[in-house]
Amino acid sequence: MCKDVVHEFFDFGRHPLSQAFLSAEDAAVPGREYRYRLAIGVCESCRMVQLLEEIPRERKFHRGYPYHSSGSTVMHRHFTEIGRRFLGTELSGDDPLLVEIGSNDGVTLRTVAEAGVRQLGFEPTGTGGAGRMHRAFFDAGSAREVRAAEGPADVIYSANTVCDIADIAEVFAGADALLTADGVLVFEDPYWGEIIERTSFDQIYDEHFYFFTASSVATTAARFGFELVDVERLPVHGGQLRYWLARSGRRAPAPAVAEVLAEEEARGLTSAETLKSFAATLLGIGDDLVALLRKLSAEGHSIVGYGATAKSSTVLNYCGIGPDLLPFICDTTPAKHGTVTPGSHIPVREAAAFRSPYPDYALLLAWNHAEEIQANEEEFRAAGGKWILYVPEVRIV
Ligand code: SAM
Ligand code: TMP
Repeated sequence: MCKDVVHEFFDFGRHPLSQAFLSAEDAAVPGREYRYRLAIGVCESCRMVQLLEEIPRERKFHRGYPYHSSGSTVMHRHFTEIGRRFLGTELSGDDPLLVEIGSNDGVTLRTVAEAGVRQLGFEPTGTGGAGRMHRAFFDAGSAREVRAAEGPADVIYSANTVCDIADIAEVFAGADALLTADGVLVFEDPYWGEIIERTSFDQIYDEHFYFFTASSVATTAARFGFELVDVERLPVHGGQLRYWLARSGRRAPAPAVAEVLAEEEARGLTSAETLKSFAATLLGIGDDLVALLRKLSAEGHSIVGYGATAKSSTVLNYCGIGPDLLPFICDTTPAKHGTVTPGSHIPVREAAAFRSPYPDYALLLAWNHAEEIQANEEEFRAAGGKWILYVPEVRIV
């Protein structure tokens, strides 16, 4: 983006696409899976943390994309809340319009649609469900088309998607084409500050191209005529920031912006020492996890995985965990059932498989939904079952 040098600080090796679940038959064919080099670096000048290799967007987001946002009740509530908040603030004027980038199954659009407010979600996979979906990638061209057809948008909102868009200039060009003069671009994505804090290295996978900080977002926005005017911490998905951006000079920045920028500076989130220590801790977690699984397995304990997340692709493939250590992973997503995980080839089974019978140990791969899952699975604990966690360190609870 700024054409400066990106310094690599960790190489996970060659990985498959994180959501490319496949049949056991396809998995048996050598070389069938697409692989890329999963490595991460930081830009010398804008300090944007990013992947080294870019995957063409159509390879990741297509008709077969299995992820459904509504799968978690916590996330359902989260998206309903932001929808309501927009309705009470940015969308309270005359015939407002909300546009969402990466609307997936329409979990946020639903709230806005039910209030009778105009909304449109850009969603290339065609997943859809609630609200109006425009089956396209958001970029300058598609944003201009929507502007011509619908008029300007008061809000462009996006969750867990802007960080996926390597050509971020397109996001800002699209926002420039589509937003009203005083409109806001609001997006929330995994926060590099949290990834450092917890060494949550499995947030690093093909879809997450950028690992934002308030600082790198502010610097990037300024290049494209936008300004960071507010920032919020979100507890979801392992810790995120929500960025509020307006055209430069149109809104007074909230005090939170200066506060978070100062805190980031003090923490040295992208300094050479921080990145070196992150890499060293990561290596230790990988070794500890494999050692624990081997030990429990050798002792004759049963272990299964819980949540065939995109994140788990990094941990399973990086640590070399396969069906020998983890015979299956249970997951609530119907499209993943009957498949095997990309690269690691662990069968994915329906959620009910967890209960019949309960295993001795469950590796919580969906640790970002820990509270919700542990509350739903109280009987597992009551039956003597134990959770294995690996963020921020390997432990049994
Ligand atoms: N926003 C939802 C959430 O937070 O649960 C879905 C997040 S999912 C990780 C990313 C979504 O963004 C996918 O549904 C994907 O198809 C979509 N997407 C990826 N690139 C996009 C782009 N350039 N424009 C619009 N949607 C995109
Ligand atoms: P995510 O980390 O990208 O949100 O993916 C979460 C995955 O975990 C998704 O495949 C659904 C699965 N899941 C369960 O199997 N059970 C649950 O209770 C929750 C919340 C998620």
